[in-house]
Amino acid sequence: MNYENILFEKKEGIAYITINRPKVLNALNAQTLDELRRAFIEIKKDASIGAVIITGSGEKAFIAGADISELAVLTSTDGKNFAHNGQHIFTMIENLGKPVIAAINGFALGGGCELAMACTLRIASENAEIGQPEVNLGIIPGYGGTQRLARLVGIGRAMELVLTGNRINANEAERIGLVNKVVSQSELVEAAKAMAKKIMSKGPLAISYGIEAINKGMQMSLQEGLFLEATLFGLLCSTEDMKEGTKAFLEKRKASFKGK
Ligand code: COA
Repeated sequence: MNYENILFEKKEGIAYITINRPKVLNALNAQTLDELRRAFIEIKKDASIGAVIITGSGEKAFIAGADISELAVLTSTDGKNFAHNGQHIFTMIENLGKPVIAAINGFALGGGCELAMACTLRIASENAEIGQPEVNLGIIPGYGGTQRLARLVGIGRAMELVLTGNRINANEAERIGLVNKVVSQSELVEAAKAMAKKIMSKGPLAISYGIEAINKGMQMSLQEGLFLEATLFGLLCSTEDMKEGTKAFLEKRKASFKGK
């Protein structure tokens, strides 16, 4: 498939997506979002892909937000469609059923922070700066930022970031749970790859259901979430992978999972 604004390659079962508009710090315009949508549809269908790593080109930015030149001319109805469109793509990424790791290599602002939060896990390089600066433009986050940020770091910290528009550095982001890990820029992709490989060595159905149980469970009451967990747990008990995983443990060998 042809892409202009993203780089897409597949290596050893991992899909690597690089947002590639370095002149505008990888800002997300409509075409880039559409290419992301197409890439993730392709990844979802491709059983040989077990994980995704998404990063930005260059050493300065992951994504510096939605493209402000497109934002500036939105009418109210356009704005609603604009937000729905981005939300839809990010929700697809969140519920891909395979781990998606954001390798945050610099500025992750606005839509960049929102895309990273829709990913399963986030690793940041030491130079990363993360924030939701939309209030500086007289708007609020529209690609899920107000919702995912509060769920990820709590309402107080989400309020502060969204209302001040402040950027925080990588260590502060790790401290508040906005990123999972901080590494040097040169180690970033390797660290993301190591995390992806570790997850890919487990049962793929367990990984998929684990993501689903946590994501869906966050939108439910505790009782409903527990019911969902028990149901998915039960389903996994009927899989070949579960038989293989438990048998391998008892036989003191490494399990070989097939995703069945
Ligand atoms: N949309 C469109 N263009 C953007 C952009 C965005 N979100 N972010 C950066 N750019 C462009 C700049 O306009 C500039 O283009 P130019 O070279 O043609 O002037 C280029 O990228 C480099 O950015 P610049 O501002 O010169 O870099 P900097 O190092 O001085 O500052 C930032 C970096 C990220 C702090 C600054 O670019 C910024 O604040 N960007 C907007 C962030 C934002 O508000 N995002 C949320 C949007 S909803």
